[in-house]
Amino acid sequence: MNGELFSTISVETWVSVVFLAGAGLLLIWHGRQLRRSWETVRVLQQRLARFQVLVEKSSDGISLIDPEGVILYASPSTTRVMGYTPDELVGQDCLDLVHPEDRPRVQTRLRELVSHPERDVTVECRCLHRDSSWLWLFCTGNNRLDEPGVRALVVNFRDISARKKAEEELLASRARLQALSRQLITAQETERRKVARELHDEIGQVLTLVTINLQGLKSSCSEEAAGRIDESIATVGQAIEQVRDLSLTLRPPMLDDFGLASALRWYVDLQKQRIDFEVQLEAQTSGERLPGEVEAACFRVVQEALTNAARHAQPRHVWIDLTQSEEEAELTIRDDGIGFDLPEARRRALQGGSLGLLGMQERVELLGGSFSIETSPGQGTVVRARLPAQSSGSPEKEGEEREGA
Ligand SMILES: Nc1ncnc2c1ncn2[C@@H]1O[C@H](COP(=O)(O)OP(=O)(O)OP(=O)(O)O)[C@@H](O)[C@H]1O
Ligand SMILES: [Mg+2]
Repeated sequence: MNGELFSTISVETWVSVVFLAGAGLLLIWHGRQLRRSWETVRVLQQRLARFQVLVEKSSDGISLIDPEGVILYASPSTTRVMGYTPDELVGQDCLDLVHPEDRPRVQTRLRELVSHPERDVTVECRCLHRDSSWLWLFCTGNNRLDEPGVRALVVNFRDISARKKAEEELLASRARLQALSRQLITAQETERRKVARELHDEIGQVLTLVTINLQGLKSSCSEEAAGRIDESIATVGQAIEQVRDLSLTLRPPMLDDFGLASALRWYVDLQKQRIDFEVQLEAQTSGERLPGEVEAACFRVVQEALTNAARHAQPRHVWIDLTQSEEEAELTIRDDGIGFDLPEARRRALQGGSLGLLGMQERVELLGGSFSIETSPGQGTVVRARLPAQSSGSPEKEGEEREGA
């Protein structure tokens, strides 16, 4: 039955049926393809719109530049950052907008960005705003020269002028504080020298005169009174000794006359009479003198570290090492005492609880040196200071420091 039906349909009819079926399938397939393409276009349009919003509303400026620095594209947000419209910037050499002092640095970073595509490059530089003021910009560059459709260096930039101004103010106020500290230290040394001289010359002389007078009186008085006078002479003698020591400790003249190593030897010998632990001083010097400021700072560091050891450490032994060359002085003061909690001591010192540790550090760092303390409870203490001969102080001041002795 079916065979009969097929045989009655002509070949042309069969061809038409097959053709129509094929065309129908093709249409369906095309329709699907079209729907997919529309979907793709819609997604792309959405992405483009988002991208545009991001670029336009971004607080950063975004630009594309070629390897020579010529601006190929500038985002609308550039106007917010730098005042220029994108059209004003496209075609310009971006280096023309950079402050002349910063240009070599920016050029170097640009070359780095081109030659090392794998690295992101950042730079901070001053750029000319449209209103002729200088802006500080933080720029990040990203090499997309090999990316089809981009073929440029992508540069994001952000206005950091407010941060830079705050940093500059902070640096200026730190410099002012440092200058003030230096002046205070110099004034303190000058004052010590003056007081030391007055103690020695004025009070020392008066006490010596009292001794001479007392001795003169002795011959003309009773035996009992002479005994009292002898006691007084001995007491005044002790006072003379104390005034002398005090005067020398305030500002040892040998520090100015014979140098650091001699002053330290004298100081350690003096302390040995007062303390109940061993002190060992090793001084290796090239024989050359260091600037007065540096020698004074080293002396004060040893003085404070040894006083601290005597007051707080309960040591059996203290070792002082000085290595002095034409270039620098290196000091180590080590004790085998009880040690201490350094962060806690620093915290107390910063709240005004003490001056010694901060004073040592301040003196050394003001002269461009480095200072450190190693300690912990039960471990003893090591104080280290390294001071360069070429301090950042003015030569006049250094001269003054020695001359005034
Ligand atoms: N060598 C040391 N061994 C043990 N403790 C120490 C030593 N050096 C310092 N310290 C501790 O650190 C604290 C701070 O020392 P710092 O020299 O600043 O102050 P201070 O000696 O107490 O007073 P000053 O201001 O007169 O120097 C001391 O009070 C002490 O507790
Ligand atoms: Mg102290």
